[in-house]
Amino acid sequence: MEISKELTDAINEQINFEMYSGYVYLSMATWFEEQNLDGMAHWMKIQAKEEYEHAIRFWNA
Ligand SMILES: [Fe+2]
Repeated sequence: MEISKELTDAINEQINFEMYSGYVYLSMATWFEEQNLDGMAHWMKIQAKEEYEHAIRFWNA
């Protein structure tokens, strides 16, 4: 199915937001690791993976 350029651009922008969110979570995971807060670091890594999965869902759409 062909979609408009406007919709393509919007989906690409959303993919970027999802990936950016993942990077932010990863950076927070790093900070928590530095504080020896491994439980919080682990939780942030899970969130990062979730954002990556969101990006992949849009990429697959
Ligand atoms: Fe997301």
